[in-house]
Amino acid sequence: MNSKPFKKNNELASYRLSIAPMMDCTDKYFRVLMRQITKQSLLYTEMIVAQALHYNKNRGKLLDFAEIEHPISIQLGGDNPNLLAEAAQMAEDWGYDEINLNIGCPSPRVRSGNFGACLMGKPKTVANCIERMKKTCNIPITIKQRLGIDNLDNDEYLMQFVDDCSNAGADRFIIHARKAWLNGLNPKENRTIPPLQYERVQKLKNNRPELIIELNGGLNTLNECIKTLKVFDGAMVGRAAYSHPFDWRKIDSMIYGHEEKYLSRSKIIKQIIPFAEKHLENEGRLWQFSKHILNLIEKIPNAKKFRQELSEKSQSGKANISILKKIAQQLEDAGH
Ligand SMILES: Cc1cc2nc3c(=O)[nH]c(=O)nc-3n(C[C@H](O)[C@H](O)[C@H](O)COP(=O)(O)O)c2cc1C
Repeated sequence: MNSKPFKKNNELASYRLSIAPMMDCTDKYFRVLMRQITKQSLLYTEMIVAQALHYNKNRGKLLDFAEIEHPISIQLGGDNPNLLAEAAQMAEDWGYDEINLNIGCPSPRVRSGNFGACLMGKPKTVANCIERMKKTCNIPITIKQRLGIDNLDNDEYLMQFVDDCSNAGADRFIIHARKAWLNGLNPKENRTIPPLQYERVQKLKNNRPELIIELNGGLNTLNECIKTLKVFDGAMVGRAAYSHPFDWRKIDSMIYGHEEKYLSRSKIIKQIIPFAEKHLENEGRLWQFSKHILNLIEKIPNAKKFRQELSEKSQSGKANISILKKIAQQLEDAGH
């Protein structure tokens, strides 16, 4: 897969729905799958650390995406303005549509590198990073953050933080509507235990109507997203889209007003096959696609049997495309 320049879509508010960045989930294989389901939603990469882009000689592998993945935002992690500016330049040159800065990840590893959620405690550093990135590239710079961290968790602090980022040039804010505890909770607990507080994000939006503010956290259905969009500029969905991709097949018609097209699980898999074939030709493994396709096959009779077959047969290094073709055909024959 490689990228070519793409007509830039700088209409920030047009990304009413996006699929959240998720480590080990939203890789380029999942994104190709998700793109069969929604043509217009903004897709995010997993977090890529700016330092890794600086030192890795094979950085093309980190940056790589397929043309059909547009519109796509690269999520960067880091706290060094020089490295982030360099990474932002690389991302723009590679053809990304946007750059997102991670200020929400609470993992100890990320924290030990002084980035992710702990940056909510360092607004000046964040503002400096944004300013440098804005000076270096011409694509939008967006922020994905929490409501707060540890004891820095009140509405005044949140608003000041957002104001600092906005004054530095941040173009859009995605707020995961819960705080993070940097001590005492692991990343998974930090996505479930601190309560969701949509009302605090709403207060922020009410106080700063001119800013583009998206809500993230706990949105489980398309109808919940539609409700969210009555208040916020965008809705970002993570786990529910990853685990149940087929449930989101009406995004383009219900959110973006496109004509509704019939989509089936088998059709989606058939559309992925050319990408998987190319991937295998380049010595990739079928499992890299199949592990995400498994989540498509649910809520139908014999789902477990189909999944088991796909899983067992795709994991060997020698697995070939005939497995995907067979599963797609079986699903089609069964009316799915
Ligand atoms: C497995 C996993 C990995 C994640 N990795 C990232 C990441 O790399 N960057 C990020 O900003 N958020 C990451 N997140 C958080 C999600 O982007 C999102 O903010 C969170 O899951 C809440 O949204 P949801 O309730 O719709 O899932 C991750 C979440 C999960 C479940």
